[in-house]
Amino acid sequence: CGIVGYVGGRPALSIVLDGLRRLEYRGYDSAGVAVVDNSTVLTEKKAGKLANLEKALAERTGDNIASGSTAIGHTRWATHGGPTDRNAHPHLSADGRVAVIHNGIIENFSRLRAELESTGIEFASDTDTECAAHLLAAEMRALRDSGGLSGPQLLAEAMRRTVRRLEGAFTLLAIDVDVPDAVVAARRNSPLVVGRGQGENFLASDVSAFIEHTREAIELGQDQVVLITPAGIEITGFDGEVAEGKEFHIDWDSKAAEKGGYDYFMLKEIAEQPQAIADTLLGRLSERGEIVLDEVRLTDQDLRDIDKVFIVACGTSYHAGMVAKYAIEHWTRIPCEVELASEFRYRDPILDRSTLVITISQSGETMDTLMALRHAKEQKARVLAICNTNGSTIPRESDAVLYTHGGPEIAVASTKAFLTQLVACYLIGLHLAQIRGVMYADEVAAVVEKLQSTPDSLRLLLDRMEDVRALARDLKTASTVLFIGRHVGYPVALEGALKLKELAYMHAEGFAAGELKHGPISLIDEGTPVVCVVPSPAGRGVLRDKVVSNIQEVRARGARTIVIAEEGDENVKAYADHLITVPSTPTLLAPLMTTVPLQILACEIAAARGLDVDQPRNLAKSVTVE
Ligand code: G6P
Repeated sequence: CGIVGYVGGRPALSIVLDGLRRLEYRGYDSAGVAVVDNSTVLTEKKAGKLANLEKALAERTGDNIASGSTAIGHTRWATHGGPTDRNAHPHLSADGRVAVIHNGIIENFSRLRAELESTGIEFASDTDTECAAHLLAAEMRALRDSGGLSGPQLLAEAMRRTVRRLEGAFTLLAIDVDVPDAVVAARRNSPLVVGRGQGENFLASDVSAFIEHTREAIELGQDQVVLITPAGIEITGFDGEVAEGKEFHIDWDSKAAEKGGYDYFMLKEIAEQPQAIADTLLGRLSERGEIVLDEVRLTDQDLRDIDKVFIVACGTSYHAGMVAKYAIEHWTRIPCEVELASEFRYRDPILDRSTLVITISQSGETMDTLMALRHAKEQKARVLAICNTNGSTIPRESDAVLYTHGGPEIAVASTKAFLTQLVACYLIGLHLAQIRGVMYADEVAAVVEKLQSTPDSLRLLLDRMEDVRALARDLKTASTVLFIGRHVGYPVALEGALKLKELAYMHAEGFAAGELKHGPISLIDEGTPVVCVVPSPAGRGVLRDKVVSNIQEVRARGARTIVIAEEGDENVKAYADHLITVPSTPTLLAPLMTTVPLQILACEIAAARGLDVDQPRNLAKSVTVE
């Protein structure tokens, strides 16, 4: 979910709505706001996208919701309770005095709900969040009755008492009618940053929500409560102990979070890939010919002692991990396993001090990945993060970090983040190989040089995607699309299928090309489109020939083949109903090229089907629940 809070001298509603627009990628099942004005809390909330809320607000008259100067806002990705008006946030306490918004899951909510109901409270929603509103209101009453605290301090103490009763992961923001110039927030395991303005302050799930207003931000630690008023920011632990946040300056350009002439963020982000790769490579090779990571709290000896690598990630990032396995094992000769983060810790993996766990996450907040990382740390493994978001939780809790410099990725379906993750994985593979003496500096430099030439090749490729667009219009009514590949082409096939599922809501599946004959080939019927990712004929000719045989097998059964192959691979033409060529690249690096036509294919098919490319149904960009 996306969360925004504002307190200051300006009308808060429009600032909060602007922020929500930028956070809508975090969820868009419903949206809502609450504003404090003249001793009342005014709320509006609506199921569906933010536009529904904006329409309701535009039609609303007769109160000051647009002029109050303290507000909170929420855009939801449903967990407890369906995406309806009544389950949309904010949630109010029974007396209507407190409004709360929440990201995460309160795990002991059924117990709390039963307890609250036994005191006569009637719940107005099916959410776990509503418990927090009732608890907070009760704490406010109790503190007020006992005297002592008042104003913002009372609100902060009531929040601390409330969160001490909650289990699970949450970011909570709350306002109260009697404390008109304050927003209080609490954070456990869920993202929250503070924006420091002049005479005004901000809270949000990430900095993009307030980047237009301030570049000065504060990162919160675990289990902290923050109180913002127009005059200041106060941070404490859940126990009330004064704490300090980590101040940082935001160097993202706010323009980077706008569409800049493209129809969709996704198309813009696809076009940005050459630059994103170049930026991720910038400054990575030191004068001594060594790969430079961003934050390393491990010694070279620690890295030499590694005898096993695990890569854990979710979604598209997991596919980057699958590619990384080929490169890391090939270059370092260390056994490397890739695992879905949501499966990793629950199967009790064998980890110790000499295991390196690499997490890959664009957002740095994916709860499944974060929990896998914590499990790895508990087992004493070394943890290295590949991440695109500075200051997010996963890199903060890791022993070493390599940031992908992809810039903000807004479209829910990941594109430039994926390619930069691949680059980061290659760099880590090279770094490990070098430190362990398996590769010499000149060998590393030769691969880096190849990587450095990929942005130019990619620009050429992006310039000739017209026929992929035409193909998309043609495929938009297919009932099933299959993707096949071998070696690093296998994860590319999986990624191509994932993109099509995510964006076009079509049945799409990726397979290892050689596995097709062991079952899935029976899916092939007259005209079934099969996208075939063909390896380079250079270097690993055997691999290429095997894929060509697999293409023949599907063609013999009526498939319509869409072949992605390297320029100059003339022989492949005979097997292709539709041929898409990509610039020549060393085998291990080929996914940097072959993925791109598949991204465009999925994007254009979704657009041709009239779907929302940037915000596909049921998804969210950053999923901060397990
Ligand atoms: C969500 C997104 C996916 C993304 C995955 C992992 O499910 O919809 O596009 O690949 O999370 O996200 P991360 O931020 O950890 O890379």
